[in-house]
Amino acid sequence: CGIVGYIGARNSQEVLLDGLSKLEYRGYDSAGIAVTTEQGLQVRKSKGRLAVLASQLEESPLHGEAGIGHTRWATHGKPSDENSHPHTDATMKFSVVHNGIIENYLELKEGLIADGVQFLSETDTEVISHLIAREYDGDIVKAVQRAIRHMRGAFALGVLTEYEPDRLVAVRCASPLVIGVGEGENFIGSDIPAILQYTRRVYILNDNEMAVLTKDAVELMTIEGNTISREMIVVDWDALTAEKDGFDHFMLKEIYEQPKAYRDTMRGRMLDGLEGVKLPELKVLTPERLKEIRNVHIIACGTAYHAGLVGRTLIERAVKIPVENDVASEYRYRDPIITPETLVIVVSQSGETADTLAALREAKRCGAPVLAITNVVGSSVAREADDTIVTWAGPEIAVASTKAYTSQLIAFMLFSLYWAQVTGRADTAQLRHELAAMEALPEQVEKLLEQATEMKRVAEDMAKHDNLFFIGRGVDHAVVQEGSLKLKEISYIHSEAYAAGELKHGTLALIEDDVPVIALLTQPALIEKMVSNIKEVKARGGVVYAITDEAHAELVGKETDGVFVIPTTLPHLSPALSVVPLQLIAYYASLARGNDVDKPRNLAKSVTVE
Ligand code: G6P
Repeated sequence: CGIVGYIGARNSQEVLLDGLSKLEYRGYDSAGIAVTTEQGLQVRKSKGRLAVLASQLEESPLHGEAGIGHTRWATHGKPSDENSHPHTDATMKFSVVHNGIIENYLELKEGLIADGVQFLSETDTEVISHLIAREYDGDIVKAVQRAIRHMRGAFALGVLTEYEPDRLVAVRCASPLVIGVGEGENFIGSDIPAILQYTRRVYILNDNEMAVLTKDAVELMTIEGNTISREMIVVDWDALTAEKDGFDHFMLKEIYEQPKAYRDTMRGRMLDGLEGVKLPELKVLTPERLKEIRNVHIIACGTAYHAGLVGRTLIERAVKIPVENDVASEYRYRDPIITPETLVIVVSQSGETADTLAALREAKRCGAPVLAITNVVGSSVAREADDTIVTWAGPEIAVASTKAYTSQLIAFMLFSLYWAQVTGRADTAQLRHELAAMEALPEQVEKLLEQATEMKRVAEDMAKHDNLFFIGRGVDHAVVQEGSLKLKEISYIHSEAYAAGELKHGTLALIEDDVPVIALLTQPALIEKMVSNIKEVKARGGVVYAITDEAHAELVGKETDGVFVIPTTLPHLSPALSVVPLQLIAYYASLARGNDVDKPRNLAKSVTVE
């Protein structure tokens, strides 16, 4: 799931371990490194957290000037010592770390076994090390190039051989990889935080490109071996943004970063006097092109999918064009009706989610314009979409997404207003009214966060239960779906989010004495209906905790067992406020249960397999 590589005069073991620790947030189940030492190529790897590997290395350290490291998230074969990376060939002369999937690995494996090769693991990666060994005739670069000609799939590789300890080879074929450039030392990483501590100067590899690193030079070429030149990027992130800043967990830090993320995402995108929205990044989606659009598909996974549910409400309301939401892994297989008049919006924090990318490609194949909403500049989704609106949430480290989700809401708000503006659906007065409400959101979140400890108390109560329900109507239903996912992801409490009116059609059977129900009520037109639904729950013994806005606090307070009050905004903007207490409930419930908040079991931050 994460790759690092180093060549230079430092103790590579330390650089690799440090780089891997910066990649932990991506989620992993095992870790390992390989170093070319005086005794030859040596590997240390094990199932479990990095600390396990670190203690192994403490007992038997590896000294050498070149190395590769990996954190694995199991795909082919269970998490185990054997299946951990790096993988080597039978002679232990070649070592490989790999992200992604080799689709034809079984076929390759059978061929290799027929040639007498013995396999030690169940992984697709091991195939690569045997292939490279087979192709080697004195030049590791050529051997790698020949080996990957046999491979089909998505992969990023780091390759090392004992025969050429002064060279490190990196390959990118549809899995992200960056090259860090230092003084007398060079690095590879599957993303920038892995190497940021050592250098800010990076090359981003494109698909089907590779790099050959020595300690003094980086040579970039296509996988066919044609030299390429690439502009070096200087990263201006503060290394500290990738650390916890005094918060106990990245998730909490990121919850508190939301006001900043809102401001950053809005910055420079509103016209003077709030007369409208400007999105100069839209190059293909010109006002003329937007006028031709007849329907919209919003596609994403997980939390980004939930942002898309809110996006639908915003677009339909502002532009009056029908919108459908799809989870990316289903999209291609339902034969969606996509035409050049369909706007496909893909939402992805990482911009690397394989399901989302595959859906994006399908949409493009059908001739639809694709707009990406993503948090990672230069990510695959951003590069392949026709246009991209970047959410400026900054790096999100906790696996459970918070500020990326809310920044996606801001992006949808801006885009829907922009679309309404350029197609003449909104006049200046209306735009000013909406944009002023948006501008107030960051401060409203700050105000709400002042009462975070109230959510701690509620969450500690919830953590005692094994089942709970969320209910809401309209856009509140979209938000409770995200609240429920958040809770499941990190507290492991089973919960379900229901459209409140749907409860009586089945789920009410599960409500009995003391079952907790969290109700979200921010939509003035639906408050009365919600109150009726709350009564249905209370009549069966359920305990209802409500989240509502200042305008409805009194009414809702009378009907429920507890209320958390959020500031009032325009009804359709409320998700940017109402999700925050739900994030806090999930966070504190996870904490109360003693879970690893930032790294929940079985989940990965960025899932680059389908
Ligand atoms: C993974 C993460 C989720 C995330 C989803 C989509 O499953 O665990 O938290 O929502 O991927 O990720 P993306 O980067 O595309 O938004």
